[in-house]
Amino acid sequence: MFDKKVLMVCLGNICRSPLAQGILEKKIILHGLNWTVDSAGTGRYHVGNPPDVRSIDKAREYGIDITKQRSRQIEVSDLDLFDVILTMDSSNYQSVMGLAKNKSQRDKIKLILNYVYPGQNMAVPDPYYDDSFQRVYDLLNAALDQLIAKVEAF
Ligand code: 4NP
Repeated sequence: MFDKKVLMVCLGNICRSPLAQGILEKKIILHGLNWTVDSAGTGRYHVGNPPDVRSIDKAREYGIDITKQRSRQIEVSDLDLFDVILTMDSSNYQSVMGLAKNKSQRDKIKLILNYVYPGQNMAVPDPYYDDSFQRVYDLLNAALDQLIAKVEAF
């Protein structure tokens, strides 16, 4: 059994959430944590596809291999299966909230950047059209450092 199961969620599950998964997987190993991480999209346009090549390249720059990931759509059962569900923007957040059936499920759903900018409900920008993959990497990396620091403080 894992101590914590984390699900990253964006729209297409090809740009932001695969990168977030890869970054956290590396940190899990570095910190010796017994956690697992997966990712999913609220949409199904890219189901079965590998991550966007720009996310693959950005991850590779930091020694992270995300090439084996495949896009999938979030399912209602994920809200029970995972302990924490980290969304990238308010649209993803609202979509996942719309799937939740009870308070226990709703309490798991967070905006990932609230770990670095508490209460500000900031979005990880969608890099699909504007190519902002470095900014996305930096934001996700900072947020995931804070997530680990918060949990390890207990
Ligand atoms: P992601 O980026 O949600 O970070 O995976 C996107 C990928 C694809 C599309 C939009 C955003 N799309 O419209 O196809």
